[in-house]
Amino acid sequence: MTLLLGIALLALALSGPTVAFVPIGGGASTHISITGTALLQKVTETCRAVAEAAGHEFEPTGPSPEELVQACLGPTATGEVSGAKFHSALQEIYTQNGLIDRDFVNSAPHHFNSEAFLEGRGLITEGVVAIKANIGKENFKAARETLGRVLHTLQDFYSHSNWVELGYTEPYTNLLRPDLPLENLADVNTATCSDCASGTCPNPILPNILKEKKLTSGYMGIFSANKPKGKCSHGGAGDQTSTTVPRGGISKDERRSDNLAFHNAAVNAATAASLQLLDDIRLAAGNNDFLRMLGIARSSVVCFVIDTTGSMSDDIAEARAVVYEIIDSKKGTQDEPSEYILVPFNDPSFGPMIRTTDPDKMKKEISKLSATGGGDHPEMCLSGLQVALTGAPPSSHIYVFTDATAKDIYLKDTIVALIRSTRSTVSFFMTGAGGRKRRSLRASFQDYKDLALASGGQAIQVSKSQLPQATDVILDTSTSALVTVLQRARNGGAQEIFPFVLDESLKNTTIYITGTSVTFTVTNPAGATQNQNEASGKLGTIQTVGNLYRIRLNADKQTGTWKINIMSKQPYSLKITGQSTITFIYDFVESFGGPHPGYAVVSGRPQAGQPANLMVSVMGRKGPSSMAIGEIGLVTVSGSQSVSNGKTTDMGNGEILVTVDAIPSGEFVVLLNGTDKLSNSQFQRQSTTQMSVSKVNIQAVVDSSVEPGKTFKLPFSVMTQGSGGKYTISAKNDRNFEMTFPDSITLTTGQYTNATLTITPPANTPSGTDVTLTMEAKSSSGADSNYVVLRFSVVTKITDFVPPSCEVVGVLADDCPQDVSQCGPFSWELSANLTDGNGTGITRISLNQGNGNLTHTSLNDPVISANYTASCCSQIVELIAVDKTGNVGKCYHSIVRSAGPALTLSLPVWLCLVLSAFVARF
Ligand SMILES: *[C@@H]1O[C@H](CO)[C@@H](O)[C@H](O)[C@H]1NC(C)=O
Ligand SMILES: *[C@@H]1O[C@H](CO)[C@@H](O)[C@H](O)[C@H]1NC(C)=O
Ligand SMILES: *[C@@H]1O[C@H](CO)[C@@H](O)[C@H](O)[C@H]1NC(C)=O
Ligand SMILES: *[C@@H]1O[C@H](CO)[C@@H](O)[C@H](O)[C@H]1NC(C)=O
Ligand SMILES: *[C@@H]1O[C@H](CO)[C@@H](O)[C@H](O)[C@H]1NC(C)=O
Ligand SMILES: *[C@@H]1O[C@H](CO)[C@@H](O)[C@H](O)[C@H]1NC(C)=O
Ligand SMILES: *[C@@H]1O[C@H](CO)[C@@H](O)[C@H](O)[C@H]1NC(C)=O
Repeated sequence: MTLLLGIALLALALSGPTVAFVPIGGGASTHISITGTALLQKVTETCRAVAEAAGHEFEPTGPSPEELVQACLGPTATGEVSGAKFHSALQEIYTQNGLIDRDFVNSAPHHFNSEAFLEGRGLITEGVVAIKANIGKENFKAARETLGRVLHTLQDFYSHSNWVELGYTEPYTNLLRPDLPLENLADVNTATCSDCASGTCPNPILPNILKEKKLTSGYMGIFSANKPKGKCSHGGAGDQTSTTVPRGGISKDERRSDNLAFHNAAVNAATAASLQLLDDIRLAAGNNDFLRMLGIARSSVVCFVIDTTGSMSDDIAEARAVVYEIIDSKKGTQDEPSEYILVPFNDPSFGPMIRTTDPDKMKKEISKLSATGGGDHPEMCLSGLQVALTGAPPSSHIYVFTDATAKDIYLKDTIVALIRSTRSTVSFFMTGAGGRKRRSLRASFQDYKDLALASGGQAIQVSKSQLPQATDVILDTSTSALVTVLQRARNGGAQEIFPFVLDESLKNTTIYITGTSVTFTVTNPAGATQNQNEASGKLGTIQTVGNLYRIRLNADKQTGTWKINIMSKQPYSLKITGQSTITFIYDFVESFGGPHPGYAVVSGRPQAGQPANLMVSVMGRKGPSSMAIGEIGLVTVSGSQSVSNGKTTDMGNGEILVTVDAIPSGEFVVLLNGTDKLSNSQFQRQSTTQMSVSKVNIQAVVDSSVEPGKTFKLPFSVMTQGSGGKYTISAKNDRNFEMTFPDSITLTTGQYTNATLTITPPANTPSGTDVTLTMEAKSSSGADSNYVVLRFSVVTKITDFVPPSCEVVGVLADDCPQDVSQCGPFSWELSANLTDGNGTGITRISLNQGNGNLTHTSLNDPVISANYTASCCSQIVELIAVDKTGNVGKCYHSIVRSAGPALTLSLPVWLCLVLSAFVARF
């Protein structure tokens, strides 16, 4: 566990524009470009395999991630699908990859510096085990984060060691195979480099090291110039050891004229190694879960949090009806939900969370809910919501059904932090007068309205009999391509006109107004109008129920600038949404220095008193090049309007860095406009999650998984630029694991104060469980606060790294004709013995290549025997055996005969040849 604060590093001089193996840079080959190349290639291969297995062609219309996703989800995909989740997944992986250069800048194993080979491989191994365990539990976010970090370390091996100088062009497979030794490492007393006064010598590795093929890596000293005698340095401005003889360095991070060949070889090997690691994960996880981890799935998720106390039976019946309607009406479309989540709550209990991809299971589970007990008390609503927010994928739409106020209102700050970090929207259907028998006077329906607004959701208040007319809102959001055009909240009073731009790509455009005694007029670009009394007019249809107006614009809506003029004496909110593949994702980021400078995502609220930086990607129908960005800025949602536009810098990779100097005070969202070059139409989009800045800063980093039954120490630091004094610390985790932490700490303005939190998962926690920890520091007046949301994985220590073995025991291919074009009516057979030896046991045997039929004996047999029968037209087979730990064993066999004149080998000789070729693959 290391906690390294960026502060000291920021003081270090930034070392010019670095171009390679750096987190973000304008150059050709960076950690991001290597990671991106490998991910896109592996996704393409996986999508092709999935498509072929399903019997259709995989034909993306172009190379952009958007087009890849659309093609990957296949021809069943009628309707639009957004590439936003795939983009976000890639971004999360890139971000974690880059953070290794900030959080572990001085840790040799994370970068394979200073000959820390075994420790470096240990990080990769531990990470891969955690990724596989997380995917097994569908904790995809945790899996992505670890994947980003592990890839960084793996890629650094090729830049920081002498692997490519030794002449190797392929990856070092043993880095991914902890059951195999790392051999021929230069020991600490062996000199490895010659002195290089200029600092840039083509190959300073000593000739005997090259001859004996000894593996070494450069020493790196950020704070010290010391290194063992005769050892190579990393090199570069950030490395103090590079001035100690032997001077210079062997890092291939940057592409320079003197190291061009080695740099390129390192990039190629790092890319190939990344592909190997991804393939290992794909084989262990299976194609579908691998794609889901990367955000390639229909993105609509149904997530309901339902109060099940006595008075709720009508509401439960309606929630059930909505679920049935979504499932039945969206089946087979791109909008069919990919996942269903249900969290019941009551008093005093809540949960468990039911999470399934099977629509029939969801129907069954929601049919089982019944209203019982409680009745008089406010409920554990926020506890249920907390479970949903941490369990649902990011950017989900969560619906809460309740008729009572929250008993657990003390969780409100935690919920706001989770909303901000997950970007999920939370909408409430409140049926009741604002709390049956108000026992808890501190909570009211206003709390739900606050949470809805903070998340960009809606707070809908209707009578129980009106509820069925209000739930169309849920159907509107269960789509794979929902976007928000505009959202505003006002306290009422003056009349206000809100202009908004509707573009050609928008479908099912809907305006929602929540509020009482509202009058409004909608005007299209041509000047046609419709007011709140015209249920069916020139522009669309208006549905009114409870405090909700839902205005569905006609399908042939005009594009251009529309207006809505609203008048109300009471508070109201306005939201305009539609379906479109033109959308954007964003993160607040901060720059960091050190030898490999970059940008890191801000986990809590951005810092007050300085410009805000955002990293934005805009997705169009044909990738970033089909979009022209207009303005990107921050805008307040509530109160009087305040817009601050940012300066934009193109970072490459479709990313735009936006710097906003004057941040609006209070809560703001991101507003963006531009032109879709395909339709030459202007568009406008807005983010939904509200954010504000803070003077408080909390730093904490989780760098490893946690073992069941072991106490995990998490050091953290808190700082304020505001006034010092006592700050209360609160921490909550979504699994109720035991924690210790100081109630409060005393801060001095501008100085970090260190403290430690401990958390202990019970010994029986299943491997792969993830835990979301929310920590908050609040000034004693309550005026300022900030939070961090950390996610870590509970993973059982693994000792079994030996993959299952597979041995082909017979091949019968003599029916197959010499002339492959005659293969049609003939088939061949293969039989194999598979075993996991002393390991954890085989859990799955499947085909990775070949489209024949596979049968096998029980997985519980000590030696499993498998038979494979395929058409002679399908000449290659690869069997996969995965054990409980996720180790992958493979069996490859080909009956392809060499080209040219037909070989006339007698069968036994031929069989013997293919068998020995097969054994060599293991
Ligand atoms: C969206 O619009 C299309 C046609 O314009 C319609 O078929 C579809 O049902 C609408 N979707 C929803 C959720 O109303
Ligand atoms: C973006 O909005 C600004 C201000 O509202 C406007 O001046 C500009 O023309 C818009 N740009 C595009 C491309 O829509
Ligand atoms: C806080 O922790 C960091 C990292 O462990 C350490 O470098 C620093 O000296 C600590 N600060 C104090 C005041 O103890
Ligand atoms: C394969 O497994 C079967 C059943 O366990 C066994 O009888 C046979 O000897 C094995 N064959 C080889 C070549 O190991
Ligand atoms: C299995 O374990 C036994 C006893 O510990 C050992 O003798 C044997 O070599 C192991 N077999 C394998 C394949 O690891
Ligand atoms: C494999 O084939 C052999 C010979 O045809 C047969 O005896 C055996 O039962 C088959 N095993 C499986 C698992 O299908
Ligand atoms: C695979 O099994 C299916 C269904 O039993 C059968 O129709 C097909 O012929 C088999 N294929 C081969 C190559 O044996």
